[in-house]
Amino acid sequence: MANIAVFGAGYIGLVTAACLADLGHTVAVRDIQQDRVDRLRAGEVPIHEPGLGELIARNTERLTFTLNADDALAGAEIVYICVDTPPTMAGDADLSRVWSVVNSLKGATDLRAVVVKSTVPVGTGARVRSVLNEAGLAHVGYAANPEFTAEGRAVADFMTPDRVVIGGSDEATVQLIADLHRGVDGPVEIMDVASAEMVKLASNAALMTKISFMNEIAVLCELTGADVELVAHAVGLDHRIGGHFLQAGIGWGGSCFPKDSEALKQLASNTGHHPQLLNAVIEVNNLQKRRAIQKLKQALGSLEGTQIALLGMTFKPGTDDMRESPSTVLAARLLAEGAKVRCWDPLAAQDLAEPWASTTRHDSPLEAVTGADAVILATAWPELREVSWEQAHGLMRRPVVFDGRNLLDPPAMRTLGFTYMSVGRA
Ligand code: UDX
Repeated sequence: MANIAVFGAGYIGLVTAACLADLGHTVAVRDIQQDRVDRLRAGEVPIHEPGLGELIARNTERLTFTLNADDALAGAEIVYICVDTPPTMAGDADLSRVWSVVNSLKGATDLRAVVVKSTVPVGTGARVRSVLNEAGLAHVGYAANPEFTAEGRAVADFMTPDRVVIGGSDEATVQLIADLHRGVDGPVEIMDVASAEMVKLASNAALMTKISFMNEIAVLCELTGADVELVAHAVGLDHRIGGHFLQAGIGWGGSCFPKDSEALKQLASNTGHHPQLLNAVIEVNNLQKRRAIQKLKQALGSLEGTQIALLGMTFKPGTDDMRESPSTVLAARLLAEGAKVRCWDPLAAQDLAEPWASTTRHDSPLEAVTGADAVILATAWPELREVSWEQAHGLMRRPVVFDGRNLLDPPAMRTLGFTYMSVGRA
């Protein structure tokens, strides 16, 4: 069993640390946020992730939390870098936090390997390698071990993954990192560092491409009278295509897709390559949200002075994460059109910045739709299927619904008297 230091106690770092501890390793987690470390030490889990609390609680003797890099590195044989890599002003991935960890490693005498889990541009591993060499750490191995974690199922994605990807500088390092994963139920794919870095970016781009592709087909379905739900289902039954990530709607958001698509685009542009397909995938996604507002305007005329209920704020159900949520764009566009926005979400934080600060927050979907001229369903929360839409009809000023996630049954909604619009369904 290994002694591991994990840098970064965000979604990825915490899940990695807790799962490695559960596999029997001793893990010290270092974060720069005092509040986060204090809460973790007190047994509180600062993020919403199913199963993570239990995992941390049952491994307390193997899991420590610290603000101090040297404390985390004392005795560490392996360092996992799990810090965030947000976009810079130029749209590239900002690696300053990665460098700050790498630069703190000089005195770590027991170190055998540095592993990057953060999503980084292809070529980062080679740069880290030379910095390690210059710091007198040429004997320390390097590996890229990207994560393919979806929020809301992060623990399961670590313990039973579709694959573990390890890109290493040498065989011994790769074996060391593969051994850490003993107990993880999934195939291990071994490759060079650059390829492992690319697997992460290409996997996300492939998923985004599937969604944007089906969103484009949804537009064509609307124009031709076809139904995208039937089309996506039957297309997905072809095993060469697969049924996942073909759900049409108002598009993708979250902490990874928008940032990683931009980073891949800039990585391509920096080499002088024009990433045509990726650009189209991003553009289709941006348009999807604008089309939602367009449809509301077609039903209501001007949105000036209207009350619009926005049901669902997070970027997907099962998380409290608001990062790059399509809902935020909708809220901002509605306010810009002069509408009043009445929101509901079961998990989103209460004290959010603009545009949310200019909206009102309601405790239930029915409260939010009261007096509304239209409703937008923006996140596929299962609660929205359970709403009594008959009762909602009675509470609304005008019975207009735009279902941005195709959650409800069109004939049933029309029978109730709604002007019901969705994505790609006639
Ligand atoms: C994603 C990847 O799945 C994960 O592998 C990567 O490491 C990080 O990014 P996550 O952001 O947690 O994970 O969410 P995911 O469940 O993949 O959904 C991303 C977005 O796509 C959401 O906004 C979701 O609503 C949207 N989506 C997903 C669709 O619009 N249609 C679909 O068919 C699937």
